[in-house]
Amino acid sequence: MPVTLTVNGTTHRLTVQPTAVLLDVLRERLQLTGTKKGCDHGQCGACTVILDGRRVNSCMVLAAMKDGSSVTTIEGLAEDGRLHPMQQAFIEHDAFQCGYCTPGQIMSAVALLEEGRANTVEEIREYMSGNLCRCGAYVNIVAAIQQVLA
Ligand code: FES
Repeated sequence: MPVTLTVNGTTHRLTVQPTAVLLDVLRERLQLTGTKKGCDHGQCGACTVILDGRRVNSCMVLAAMKDGSSVTTIEGLAEDGRLHPMQQAFIEHDAFQCGYCTPGQIMSAVALLEEGRANTVEEIREYMSGNLCRCGAYVNIVAAIQQVLA
């Protein structure tokens, strides 16, 4: 099926299988491997991207149904060679260990920032609850987000 996606500001015209999920199109067709595959069924948040202004688990989105959509991945956050403030805060707060979940964590945190719906520690934890970290870096992840929100 033909599908046009604008990913990190670049428009791509692709032909995809009807069953192809956005995660696999990003990683395998566009070589944007920053978006990670963890559970592959909507449970872990490793595949989080921002789709038309809303965060989604890209493993749960059929690419063919998003013709004309815009996607932002972790590769699209830095501008002019400078990290996004959320990326910088994750570094400053050591908000990762193995790093596998980090792209998804950061994309959710950026969505939180853009939506402006979470301010307290409890609200941040609730908003971020769909992004699992097997290393348990949650305290530092929340601290990084708080720094950017402040
Ligand atoms: Fe998509 Fe786990 S890989 S939620």
